Amino acid sequence: MELITTVTAMVALQAQAPRPLGLVPTMGFLHDGHISLVRRARQENSTVVTSIFVNPTQFGPQEDLANYPRSTERDLEALEKEGVDIVFMPSTGEMYPAGFETHVDPGDIAIPLEGEARPGHLIGVATIVTKLFTITRPNHAYFGQKDGQQARVIQHINTDLNLGVTVAICPTVRESDGLAMSSRNSYLNNAERKSATILYRALLHAKELFNQGERDTSNIRMAMINLIEAEPTAYIDYVSIANLETLREIKRIDQTTMISLAVRIGEARLIDNLIISEMTE
Ligand code: PAF
Repeated sequence: MELITTVTAMVALQAQAPRPLGLVPTMGFLHDGHISLVRRARQENSTVVTSIFVNPTQFGPQEDLANYPRSTERDLEALEKEGVDIVFMPSTGEMYPAGFETHVDPGDIAIPLEGEARPGHLIGVATIVTKLFTITRPNHAYFGQKDGQQARVIQHINTDLNLGVTVAICPTVRESDGLAMSSRNSYLNNAERKSATILYRALLHAKELFNQGERDTSNIRMAMINLIEAEPTAYIDYVSIANLETLREIKRIDQTTMISLAVRIGEARLIDNLIISEMTE
């Protein structure tokens, strides 16, 4: 496994690497969700590149950039074990040198949900993913469905900017009690960790109502809110029931729908989602 820290070296290496090349972008502090992406990339590509870069432009001024968890040694060991060929781990100065000022704005799809709650976040994600795509030139790139709006934003910029990458959105990996794996789960103390299952429980409740025939989104949203508000340490940021493609809120579930939510528990702001459609059981 090669550890690359400069853009020049990464560009040179990918140009000669056996194809197809699969990219798994990460911010490090790897968990089984990331490892599932790496395994899929390993199965589908001759060269696997994983990037580790805590991207400052996707954090707001009041957010957790300085405290974002890091575990570089453990991450590198795990990636080596999974047979990754190249780890791209640039410094902030390497990715954003003096004079950097271009940003990728994905448009309407980045306005609601995380876009509203975390202004600038999705522009930061779109910018860094575009840079990672142009530096590593992947044939395939792998992202988790857990960050549902991020996944749609990346598909959207890939299409709009003709980046030419096959983007795979892979299923959310969950703990045994349903909590979606996330680096930010490490902020939770024991009591908060128990409360954190409320996100998945609320999503399952929504799905159950849907399966019982409920289609009115205000009834489903209210049932989710009531359930979450009964959990004393949980504070709702949003509960959304939106069209999967546009992420616009809908009144009735008669299209492929993403039910998503952001909830604060202690220091952690957690997100999760489920996709449902008439095919869902
Ligand atoms: O999902 C993440 O870890 C990040 O948002 C990503 C896609 C690596 C961009 O920094």
